[in-house]
Amino acid sequence: VSSIGQSLAAIVGASNVFEGAGIEERYRVDIMAKYVSTPGFVVRPGSTEEVAAVVKLAAQANLSITPLGGRTGVVGGGTAKDGAIVLSLERMNKVLEVDAASMTMTVEAGATLQATHESAEANGLFMPLDLGARGSATIGGNIATNAGGNRVLRWGMMRDMVLGLEAVLANGSVVSSLTKALKDNAGYNWKHLFIGSEGTLGVITRAVLRLRPLPVSSQTALVAMSSFETATALLRKMEAALGGRLSSFELMWSDFYDFSSEAQLAKRARPLPCGHALYALMESLGSEVAHDADLFAQTLEQAMSEGLASDVVIAQSDRERDNLWAVRDDLTEVLRPLRPLIAYDVSMALGDMPRFREETRAQILERFPQATTLYYGHAGDGNLHLVVGAGTGKDQTTEVDRMVYRVVEKYRGSVSGEHGIGKGKREYIGLTRSAQELALMQAIKTALDPHNLMNPGKVLP
Ligand code: MLT
Ligand code: ZN
Repeated sequence: VSSIGQSLAAIVGASNVFEGAGIEERYRVDIMAKYVSTPGFVVRPGSTEEVAAVVKLAAQANLSITPLGGRTGVVGGGTAKDGAIVLSLERMNKVLEVDAASMTMTVEAGATLQATHESAEANGLFMPLDLGARGSATIGGNIATNAGGNRVLRWGMMRDMVLGLEAVLANGSVVSSLTKALKDNAGYNWKHLFIGSEGTLGVITRAVLRLRPLPVSSQTALVAMSSFETATALLRKMEAALGGRLSSFELMWSDFYDFSSEAQLAKRARPLPCGHALYALMESLGSEVAHDADLFAQTLEQAMSEGLASDVVIAQSDRERDNLWAVRDDLTEVLRPLRPLIAYDVSMALGDMPRFREETRAQILERFPQATTLYYGHAGDGNLHLVVGAGTGKDQTTEVDRMVYRVVEKYRGSVSGEHGIGKGKREYIGLTRSAQELALMQAIKTALDPHNLMNPGKVLP
């Protein structure tokens, strides 16, 4: 054990420090097996004070720190520098308080998203952020990446749910504003700098989250559609008819739907036949059980008669609902055969999506005729996912990236709708952010982290 290892152990206990060859693979390789590094230390603090002490020690030793949450990021944001420190928040995983009167929850950064769902629900409340990786993704990671997911359409991204925040700065000082108030205009709202900063400005340690009343009625349907135009018309119709209850509208092009439902055939029957142009998984959450179900079914029936929907299946039980969501959400196994896969989370005006898809698809398939391309996404948010796999090969990532991002640039979209920039998209951030914006970001980074010790090599080019 090195002397730094000993000093870290004095802060967090020897059982919470790993060094060199003693570091498990999960701290060296990311979940997609795409980003690999050789950190010198993994440290697992148990409190904000311990985080602060570790950060101070790292600064003295001139070692950088990469905060790590549930390892569900896909852009390499949790990849440490070789020899540097991985600071895992996994022991700081408690929901500290649910305050039913103020409809808030105070949590440690390492609490899983699912744990916040369960604690809220046990108190008759609701934490709206949701995404497929809910069982492992942590609140700290969700905040650090400003996570989006399945219900942004109705409740916004993580940024919209964070009332209070506590973070450890690069110099080891703790800034804490664990307020439960919705309104607070006393000066610069610094928490928003940390939301989406991907660990580059400090370590998020605790947060106060805004909760909502727990919806008691839930409707889920899978709808097949004949064109993108009918899909957007249907989205508008559902939003208007359901009076604010529509919480998800997840769009899947036939390439994604056919591939995903095929891969799951051993587990579940295909909920709707293949052969339609597009599929949408929609969810409505409300407060009047009978009325909401009728309104949902009637609106979809109307959509069928108006030609906006070609086929519909409405879940009649929790099991059926889970089966419908699985086709969209259970992607780890579904996508495995496509590895090494290349994944995108671009965003753009909704109306530009079909042309974006046609142009990128044509270019990719012309260059790599054997490749599989799958398009899906959170259409309500203008956020499109594209997975390219099999038939390209790892070395071709840059080539495919350039093809895709050139089309993003053409439509003035963003290279990251929701996953962040991390390590993987650094060289493309300039397609979406101007030189002036990047200079402002760099000035903020330098002011808060002058020695570049907080998750270096991420976000900024
Ligand atoms: C999702 O929407 O399922 C996630 O963003 C993960 C992804 O598709 O890459
Ligand atoms: Zn997504």
